[in-house]
Amino acid sequence: MNMKAIILSGGKGTRLRPLTYSGAKQLVPVANKPILFYCIDNIVHAGIRDVGIIISPETGREIQTAVGDGSRWGITIHYIVQDVPGGLAHAIKTARPFLGDSSFVMYLGDNLIGTGIDRFVQEFNDTSPEALILLKEVENPKQFGVAEVTPEGKVIRLVEKPEVPPSNLALVGIYLFSPKIHEAIGKISPSLRGELEITDAIQELITMGCSVKSFILEMWWLDTGKKDDMLTANVIVLDEWLRESIEGDVDNSSILGRVSIGKGSLVRESKIRGPVVIGENALIENAFIGPYTSIGNNTKVVKSSVEHSVIMDGSELRDIERLEESLIGRGVRIFRNNKTHKALRVMIGDDSVVEV
Ligand code: DAU
Repeated sequence: MNMKAIILSGGKGTRLRPLTYSGAKQLVPVANKPILFYCIDNIVHAGIRDVGIIISPETGREIQTAVGDGSRWGITIHYIVQDVPGGLAHAIKTARPFLGDSSFVMYLGDNLIGTGIDRFVQEFNDTSPEALILLKEVENPKQFGVAEVTPEGKVIRLVEKPEVPPSNLALVGIYLFSPKIHEAIGKISPSLRGELEITDAIQELITMGCSVKSFILEMWWLDTGKKDDMLTANVIVLDEWLRESIEGDVDNSSILGRVSIGKGSLVRESKIRGPVVIGENALIENAFIGPYTSIGNNTKVVKSSVEHSVIMDGSELRDIERLEESLIGRGVRIFRNNKTHKALRVMIGDDSVVEV
């Protein structure tokens, strides 16, 4: 039977504050592409064609609009509404009619890893364990599911967000399961945070005597929404994956290194030093765009200098001498007001950080 995949893009609607008060955190862009799209890329690349996306009633429409029917990837995507954010194992329960008795990949839609998943799918198909999990050494294991493993990679114990972590090996949000997982999920009860935890279900598999394999991920992994993580992901993805492509117009400007400029964009009297990605219908005028910068669609950067930053769709920078290591959300305007005395005037949403 063919392997299937589910991508979890539901959840509490707790957002990647303050970047996505208005939206789903799985759609936050890295190098101008939503994190969720990288998940779909990896799944499709591994040869999986039956893909379901778990959505919540709150942000589901936004996800469906962004992803579409799957034709962009040459597949059909099924949407599965999880009416309450009952936990990762509850999401699997909700997806049971779609999953049937197939083995499947469960991919958390806010996880980004620096590699494809082909070899994990291969390993799972070759060795047929009941579960294969990915682990990564982290400095802050308390924030994750944590695994205790033998030197041979056999998983002995798993705990979700432990006060006293048994190791520094965190569970990465990509899991491969045989249909046995449904039986394990049937045996667990909600955790203290009120969720049916996938970590508990995998622990249950171990208790049932099933084989649970682990893989330690050497490449980078991003799951949180912290500014520095987002900037790091942006740097790495631009460095490793950006392809040069100039579809917009370039007028009297110098373009150096790997640069991608989308359709309908205009770069005029400017200097761009890659790796840089600029989306569609952007205006870059009298500007310097330095390395490791991602600029979204319908943006304007005029008489400004910016590097090592992410500027999302619909935002505008005007007369800003130098902006670096910054993360600017959607529809933001930053401009210099020379008419008044030297004071900052700001309108900034909750939980923002401004360094001046
Ligand atoms: O990112 C890795 C971590 O993901 C693991 O180390 C943990 O063991 C695992 O429990 C999970 O922890 P989080 O607390 O970070 O999960 P979060 O609630 O952020 O949900 C992860 C994704 O799954 C997110 O895209 C939202 C989606 N989701 C979440 C829940 C609770 C659903 O689709 N439905 C749900 O009911």
